[in-house]
Amino acid sequence: MQKVIAIDGPSASGKGTVAARVAAELGWAYLDSGALYRLTALFAQRQHIDWNDETAVAQCAGCLPVVFDGGRVLLDGEDVAQAIRTEAVGMGASAIAALPKVRAALLQRQRDFLTEQGLVADGRDMGSVVFPQAACKIFLTASAQIRAERRAKQIGIACEGVAFERILSDIMARDEADRRRSVAPLQQLPDAHLLDTSHRTIDEAVRQVLDWYRE
Ligand code: CDP
Repeated sequence: MQKVIAIDGPSASGKGTVAARVAAELGWAYLDSGALYRLTALFAQRQHIDWNDETAVAQCAGCLPVVFDGGRVLLDGEDVAQAIRTEAVGMGASAIAALPKVRAALLQRQRDFLTEQGLVADGRDMGSVVFPQAACKIFLTASAQIRAERRAKQIGIACEGVAFERILSDIMARDEADRRRSVAPLQQLPDAHLLDTSHRTIDEAVRQVLDWYRE
């Protein structure tokens, strides 16, 4: 058994916020594995490497010049914390995340985040591949409509109209791509607790995760 809480789930489900809060409550390290896929997509793009070129993208993943410094994410010395959050980079992350060599290149890097204190890790395959011996596994989700509303509020747009519909369809497209791929597909594991946050506050979700871990 590893001192890990693995939180997997779909796009914009709030798993990052919940995972970071749980880590802070416990005094554990936190891994945002999606950021590594996003960084790889951005780094490859900046090197003019095609996102379909599996070998070249995997090389990028294996030598990512990244430093996490508080809230800053330094890629080759430049803070890209905002740049990696765009929907275009998210789509790129989803595309390169379907390439087995890329996933293999990032595997050890993710495991290295585990410290003696413990680790809260969020992503798509934390409980299945990266930390299969995690002490507690959670599948955190919410309805697509609510996830799109949360994303819209985050970027300051109305929860209706063309721009909102675009967010909703982007979220659904990424869910579909993540679910259908043959490597590390998005899925709820039989040994994971299901946490639907559609009608729960962040505080309630954090409390529930801590209760399950302490059970
Ligand atoms: O939270 P959000 O879906 O916006 O994005 P993310 O967690 O930053 O992940 C971006 C993309 O990386 C996802 O759509 C997944 O395809 C991929 N990913 C993955 O395959 N495995 C992970 N452990 C984390 C992310």
